[in-house]
Amino acid sequence: MWSIFVTRRIPEAGLNLLRQECHVEMNRQDHPLDHEEFLESAKERDGLLTLLTDKVDAVLMDRAGSRLKVISNYAVGYNNIDVVEANRRGIVVTNTPEVLTESSADFTWALLLGIARRIVEGDGFTRAGKFKGWNPLLLLGGDVHGKTLGIVGVGRIGTAVAKRASGFNMKVLGYHPQSKGKAGGLPVTFVSLEDLLRESDFVSIHVPLIEQTYHLIGEDQLRMMKPTAYLINTSRGPVVDEIAMAKALKEKWIAGAALDVYEQEPRIHPGLLNMPNVILAPHIASASIETRTEMSIIAAKNLLAVLKGEPPLYRVNSN
Ligand code: DGY
Repeated sequence: MWSIFVTRRIPEAGLNLLRQECHVEMNRQDHPLDHEEFLESAKERDGLLTLLTDKVDAVLMDRAGSRLKVISNYAVGYNNIDVVEANRRGIVVTNTPEVLTESSADFTWALLLGIARRIVEGDGFTRAGKFKGWNPLLLLGGDVHGKTLGIVGVGRIGTAVAKRASGFNMKVLGYHPQSKGKAGGLPVTFVSLEDLLRESDFVSIHVPLIEQTYHLIGEDQLRMMKPTAYLINTSRGPVVDEIAMAKALKEKWIAGAALDVYEQEPRIHPGLLNMPNVILAPHIASASIETRTEMSIIAAKNLLAVLKGEPPLYRVNSN
């Protein structure tokens, strides 16, 4: 029987699939394993089911040994895995795209509306007993309808975010680093990153974290944005220079930001924590019951397929 290690509890649906065909061991603690514990647990496994919080590097692959055939990441992003090293060893790496596209786009919009219309701030205000009745100047925010939305990275999730903009009568600009992007026939005008930053009222980031996207949005880029604009990031924290962003929010180069991801999760730049013009979500864009359940099923199916010598549903590396 194949031996599998799951680095953290995931929804039962996926675990049940694995248990039918494998001997499954799992980290049952309610926190990620430290690297040393992970190295120990990976030894002599046929497959690993990993999370974006697990660093899957050459040391880990060496420790796991030649039995390791597949690393199934429970995420669409796989910047936590050294894919080049996996390739060198003939280890298949898989991920869980598509299933989380719509829920991540929904959440992006929740953040966008939340920051523009000051929903989190308003909630805190009401709970603190400060609501003394309707006030013409209370918590004025920015309109969303009719504004310009700039999407950085027009892939699956970026396109799903663009689709939702038509209901708000928005103009949509797109910037796609490698190509023109597709945007599935939607009315997206592709422009340079600079033009997108200068013209957008909302900038939403949807690129993967790769070498070329590290600090794609830094001080220079933030200074290009309108002082009335908002930045939304549900991709990966290091795409935005967090120190520059804290400065931008403090010095009001931009009106606000809504973030789901951070440069050094779970640490957050202290400058952001007390700022009213930022929403700080705990990396939950894909966290709907339906999506996380489906992700567990896909991650399990990917892993089992590779062990059986079949093509997985979603393979990251080519050889
Ligand atoms: C991913 O899948 O990469 C998200 O960040 C978490 O669902």
